[in-house]
Amino acid sequence: MISDSQLADWNRDGFLALPGFVPIDSCRELRAHAVSLLDSADPGLGGALTVFSTTDQSHAQDEWFLTSGDKIRWFLEDGVVHDGALDRPLPLAVNKLGHAMHDLDPVFNRFSRTPELADLADDLGFVDPRLLQSMYIFKQPGIGGEVTCHCDHTFLWTEPMSVIGFWFAVEDATVDNGCLWAVPGGHTGPVRSRFRRQGTGTVTDLLDPTPWPTDDLVPLEVEAGTLIVIHGLLPHWSGPNRSERSRHAYTLHVIEGGAEYPADNWLQRPADMPMRGFRS
Ligand code: FE2
Repeated sequence: MISDSQLADWNRDGFLALPGFVPIDSCRELRAHAVSLLDSADPGLGGALTVFSTTDQSHAQDEWFLTSGDKIRWFLEDGVVHDGALDRPLPLAVNKLGHAMHDLDPVFNRFSRTPELADLADDLGFVDPRLLQSMYIFKQPGIGGEVTCHCDHTFLWTEPMSVIGFWFAVEDATVDNGCLWAVPGGHTGPVRSRFRRQGTGTVTDLLDPTPWPTDDLVPLEVEAGTLIVIHGLLPHWSGPNRSERSRHAYTLHVIEGGAEYPADNWLQRPADMPMRGFRS
């Protein structure tokens, strides 16, 4: 799926943008389907009012979040809950869906397991790629929040490090509506922290105090249908969506089947729902 020069770019930068990887019709179908899941949902459920915010980690203590590894759940934007109720329709209040649409939903499964993705995973060096988690990110107009600088290995730890993120632009992503930013070559830096379970909640272990090189972040403005591949150690960030346009994206995180997956990672899959690959 990728040329030698693209592979060289990947190794040098820690990310690779592949314009036109997904047909625009598939993006439109996924977008409509994600919204339809929320249209038919009941926002009144107690745990369903969980807010996802990377600047306030209180969501991490919530059962709704910690038990979502094998489910399809939504997480709200900051500031949409007043007096215990949503101040707007659910499809306009949600930050993201997570974290097992790729296994539980036929439309997401189809989008996530294409021959092109299977071949790309081979090209990137996976021996036995396993689809660990999926997220559908809404980045709502006006309220879509910042995602602070991080690398994915912090949250989806394996020994050795193996996670790669597949970030699909479902809609055009620009600086204005909160596109992804990344530090070219930043994947060669230290592993700064690990987020894990502790007791009934979570904790972040500081492993290296080196600050994030945020001055070196560059915007990755892409058109709908572009796939951005993200190395597990790449520092990346996205700003708030201050525009009037949504910036929907879909992400898949894939790990090596032979790598050790710690029992205290936040995301756990039950024994009767093992991770599957792109071709299984
Ligand atoms: Fe990430």
